[in-house]
Amino acid sequence: MEYRNLGNRGLRVSAVGLGCMGMSHAYGAPADHREMTELLAKAVDMGYTFFDTAEVYGTSERPHDNEELLGEALRPYRDRIAIATKFGLRFDTESGIVPYPLLPDSRPETIRRAVEGSLRRLQTDYIDLYYQHRPDPNVPMEDVAGTVADLIKEGKVLYWGLSEASEEDIRRAHAVCPLTAIQDRYSMMARWHEALFPTLEELGIGLVAFSPLANGLLSDCYTAASRFDARTDYRAAMPQFQPDSYDKNHGLLQLIRRLAGEKHATPAQISLAWMLCKKPWIVPIPGTRKLDRLKENAQAADILLTDEEVEQMDRALDTMPMSDVFGGTALRK
Ligand SMILES: NC(=O)c1ccc[n+]([C@@H]2O[C@H](COP(=O)([O-])OP(=O)(O)OC[C@H]3O[C@@H](n4cnc5c(N)ncnc54)[C@H](OP(=O)(O)O)[C@@H]3O)[C@@H](O)[C@H]2O)c1
Repeated sequence: MEYRNLGNRGLRVSAVGLGCMGMSHAYGAPADHREMTELLAKAVDMGYTFFDTAEVYGTSERPHDNEELLGEALRPYRDRIAIATKFGLRFDTESGIVPYPLLPDSRPETIRRAVEGSLRRLQTDYIDLYYQHRPDPNVPMEDVAGTVADLIKEGKVLYWGLSEASEEDIRRAHAVCPLTAIQDRYSMMARWHEALFPTLEELGIGLVAFSPLANGLLSDCYTAASRFDARTDYRAAMPQFQPDSYDKNHGLLQLIRRLAGEKHATPAQISLAWMLCKKPWIVPIPGTRKLDRLKENAQAADILLTDEEVEQMDRALDTMPMSDVFGGTALRK
């Protein structure tokens, strides 16, 4: 495993992190805790040191399943790894809708309650990287940053970040309490956050790329015949997994397959290597429940694509027709 600095404030993590959300949320019924505990231990053995979760990764029955899983599974390795979790989304348990809709809520008192819950479930007394999950239109960013600054002073949080925030939000937050990383959707199908790169470079902030495989599509393991359980698996409704999207994405998958052949790599590895080789401060966090894929994704950091190769890929992606890609679940306001 390779390691890299995430932002310029001292956080060093494995070049590929492990997104743990799909073990508990959005990718079918939650996985078996015993099996995932074994998988997480093997991830540590393989050199993964960066594990991503959030207080809302769960189901209506077990809303905090993922933090509970990680707390138990990673406890033996706590001093060797970095845990990232998130605040600022709350289940709307009073709406009468199941699964519970999510509401943005970054009021200072909510953040204070959230951090105590996350610390308890994660069985730790500090969170390495604490993100605001989504900006809250009702709470000024300065108030959020001020609250997190207090948590950092108290030693409950080491570094902090924002997820899916605008450049203005990033600058306002950073002015109050310097950010270490932002976490955004980023893949060959979702490149709109590249517009933030100059700001991130200027401020010394790293990018944690979530859904780096476009929810799995870029692994080239799915076809128009792939089906997902609409009750538990969000991919059933994602645009890139609709049967007519595979034709639209033919050119994209061909490009990835060709490079995979040239580099003796897999399509998933090429998809991750493309972003790893683009900037030394990008860390993808692909999610998987499977041991062989955990290994495969870690090895993406060993694949070298030259600047020229990355630029050629970008030029091809700029003009290539492709289907829409999932952009996130709308929040109730
Ligand atoms: N900040 C946010 O708002 C936000 C939003 C979404 C996600 N995230 C974080 O980002 C992480 C990753 O995103 P994601 O899970 O949505 O998307 P992803 O990493 O793009 O894709 C995950 C899917 O790809 C499959 N996969 C992974 N590696 C593979 C490989 N080598 N070959 C074939 N298939 C592979 C997995 O299936 P198997 O399990 O069957 O291998 C899983 O279904 C999440 O776990 C979460 O921690 C954050």
